[in-house]
Amino acid sequence: MKITESYQLKNLTLPNRLVMPPMCMYQAKDGFADNFHFTHYTTTAFGKVGMIIIEATGVTAGGRISDGDLGLWDDKFIPALKEIVDEVHRNGSKIGIQLIHAGRKSEAGSYRRLAPSAIAHSERYAVPEEMTKEDIDEVIKAFGQAARRADEAGFDIVEIHGAHGYLIHEFMSPLSNLRKDTYGGSTENRGRFLAEVIDEVKKYWPSEKVLQVRVSASDWDENGLDVHEVGNLLLPLKNKIDLVHVSSGGNVNRAIPLKPGYQVEFAHEIKQRLDLPVIAVGLITSLDQVEEILSSGKADLVALGRELLRNPFWMFEAYAKDNQLDRLISSYARAYRER
Ligand SMILES: Cc1cc2nc3c(=O)[nH]c(=O)nc-3n(C[C@H](O)[C@H](O)[C@H](O)COP(=O)(O)O)c2cc1C
Repeated sequence: MKITESYQLKNLTLPNRLVMPPMCMYQAKDGFADNFHFTHYTTTAFGKVGMIIIEATGVTAGGRISDGDLGLWDDKFIPALKEIVDEVHRNGSKIGIQLIHAGRKSEAGSYRRLAPSAIAHSERYAVPEEMTKEDIDEVIKAFGQAARRADEAGFDIVEIHGAHGYLIHEFMSPLSNLRKDTYGGSTENRGRFLAEVIDEVKKYWPSEKVLQVRVSASDWDENGLDVHEVGNLLLPLKNKIDLVHVSSGGNVNRAIPLKPGYQVEFAHEIKQRLDLPVIAVGLITSLDQVEEILSSGKADLVALGRELLRNPFWMFEAYAKDNQLDRLISSYARAYRER
């Protein structure tokens, strides 16, 4: 089976092709990881998920999605994250962290709401302030410092959150970016903020470690981003990115035609356009589905979100079906043999 095969990228060797995508838990206090996060993420590692990406973690306090999110805007957050990283490693999994500025969709505390343009996401959200050049430079620097801290905590992977209508996506999409300066207008200009975030992160994130970007391949709106433009936007950056995590939506409220594997074709298209490895995600739950995606070459890795919340030991069944129960500790293997 493909899912049980290891995967090599730079100096990163994943034990298999299964990814836990970033999922906000809304359990953090003042940005700190605590026992809850330790249990949650290390259980996933005990469940043999090859790559675990820690939930959207604020590069600034006001850049968190909510007050319950993790933060990495200060060195004080490093020790608790390092404990998680070390225990995940002891379990044989690799671990990344998703760095976010939530832009106009931040609902954390009483901070300034920042966005490329002063347009509210929807009635639920405040009208944000259009960012000045100083604001832009400050947030870019915060991404770099958060990447440095992620490295100090021992993370294998940094994922830049460029999806779901948060700040980077807001810059990318013509629906949320009406700027007249060099950060708005053409595709190239709308990609500038992401490009500068990546350049800053690379100053601090070791070149031998994996740097990946999560994108929304479509705004699901005829005037918004589509997979072709997202490809155009990423193309000049492809030599700076190791992996693309392909999601969609989130920048505007639009009906998304949900069905199993509904984003897999986007992943495939980005993979072909950029010639970069991709993670497919979105309503993928069964082993058959996963095998189809991997063996058809549409994606290199597959992420299961809610399915792994329902069953963090999903991978055990895959090893059982692939006659690889020797990869489990013997007592757990026995539970699959004797049934
Ligand atoms: C509880 C929950 C929290 C999420 N938080 C994040 C997040 O922090 N960052 C992100 O990029 N996506 C987030 N997502 C989206 C997931 O990463 C994933 O793309 C989505 O759930 C679709 O995959 P699934 O159908 O396998 O669940 C979240 C999803 C859920 C269910």
